Amino acid sequence: MNGFRLSRREFLHATAGAASASVIAGPSLFDSEPSYAAEQSSSPSDQVRFGIVGVGMEGSGLLSTAIQLPGVKCVAAADLYDGRHELAKEIAGPQIRTTRKYQELLDAKDIDAILVAVPDHWHKQVVVDALAAGKDVYCEKPMSHNPADGLAMVAAAGKTDRIVQIGAQRTSSVLCAKAHELYAQGAIGDLNLIEATLGRNDPTGAWEYPPPPDLSLQTLDWDTWLGTAPRISFDPLVFARWRCWKEYGTGVAGDLLVHLISGMQRVLGINEVPNRVSSFGGIYRWKDGRNMPDVHPVLFEYSGIPVYMRLSLGCESAEVTRFQGSKGMIELREFSVSYTPQAGVDLSPSYYTASFPARLRDPYVKQWHEEHDPVPGQEPAPETITFNGNDYDDLKPHLWNFFGAVRSRKPVLQDAVFGNNAALACHLANESYFRKSPVYWDASANVIKSIG
Ligand SMILES: NC(=O)c1ccc[n+]([C@@H]2O[C@H](COP(=O)([O-])OP(=O)(O)OC[C@H]3O[C@@H](n4cnc5c(N)ncnc54)[C@H](O)[C@@H]3O)[C@@H](O)[C@H]2O)c1
Repeated sequence: MNGFRLSRREFLHATAGAASASVIAGPSLFDSEPSYAAEQSSSPSDQVRFGIVGVGMEGSGLLSTAIQLPGVKCVAAADLYDGRHELAKEIAGPQIRTTRKYQELLDAKDIDAILVAVPDHWHKQVVVDALAAGKDVYCEKPMSHNPADGLAMVAAAGKTDRIVQIGAQRTSSVLCAKAHELYAQGAIGDLNLIEATLGRNDPTGAWEYPPPPDLSLQTLDWDTWLGTAPRISFDPLVFARWRCWKEYGTGVAGDLLVHLISGMQRVLGINEVPNRVSSFGGIYRWKDGRNMPDVHPVLFEYSGIPVYMRLSLGCESAEVTRFQGSKGMIELREFSVSYTPQAGVDLSPSYYTASFPARLRDPYVKQWHEEHDPVPGQEPAPETITFNGNDYDDLKPHLWNFFGAVRSRKPVLQDAVFGNNAALACHLANESYFRKSPVYWDASANVIKSIG
């Protein structure tokens, strides 16, 4: 975990006094860190020099994590709010350059890669500009603010040999890797349902963040912050709580569901848009002027398999994804993955035979036992196997993969196409909610269409 940032999850775990007891100490299958410093040379010649655009809640975590990696150096930070220049220097040192103009980072010859952690409505422009400037790019999730932005980003990535990695970090986690291994080995047999759920019930979890007290038109370039969004007068709440409005954010879908979708794509080894999507919900709990739902259950169909994901800011519930198949279930959680095999056969005479008269039931039951009872002392003892591992929300493995790819020039898993497919699933979920209709992605026309 990074030393600087106390993420929401880390905070909750720390205050609950729970957490890392389950994280394996010392070298093991799930310990990704013991030899990482040795794995990558940090000689000045192959040092990766990066700049960061957006040093807010997430950008500050990315920055403080990235500078812990060997052979990685922050050179400059761009942000429209001056308080975040101060923050960037606190994290990375007073020697880094800071500016309100991200283009200065793109023009700089001493910067190889750009980390992008601006609000969703700015992702496309920064990424397209960074690629045009020849930089490798790590862009936060959801990749796009809308389908058109995503297509423009995929096109821009396709025109260069630059590395593009999207920031749904769990795809680089040891837990998703283990779940993928189990799934690919056929542990659960034929997949027939995926369900996932995530619930919060507190103002911070619902994005009611306190704006920085010194935020003003003097300390923030508000006009540029608005970007492509409609012009409105300076509003500190919009600056801090932009997720609540579709003009800047992508709702619980783009904020949270995208992590579940990206993790699912990683575990299943798929990279595709769902065939159809139906979603429901509303603003039930946080009637604070937001226009995105705070409760948003979504039903997807991926290649014929139903995927039911329930997102809520109205009631706290554990975050879990369950992959269900004919031979059992894989359950993925933040700190663990477990596998529960299922025999898929009757373990006792069918209870339906209780409806038989005794003259029919008794011979059936007798025969059933003769044919199925195990040898005494050799009864099957199925068990759930649980692997405990590093937090799948830890940014370090994902940044590690990104900077490794910048050096090796080898492709990353969560590239622009992967990120776009995951983001599209979220846009479909939002469209279905707003249209009150099932929708699908018409790939020939590149638009979302209603079904029925
Ligand atoms: N991977 C994760 O787990 C995770 C977690 C939180 C947020 N995020 C993503 O990170 C991104 C940023 O979220 P956040 O919570 O840090 O937002 P934030 O509002 O806290 O920070 C965004 C920063 O970007 C700056 N900014 C906006 N437009 C800019 C521009 N054109 N040039 C330079 N700076 C600009 C703002 O001034 C602000 O300081 C979002 O896309 C969000 O979805 C990802």
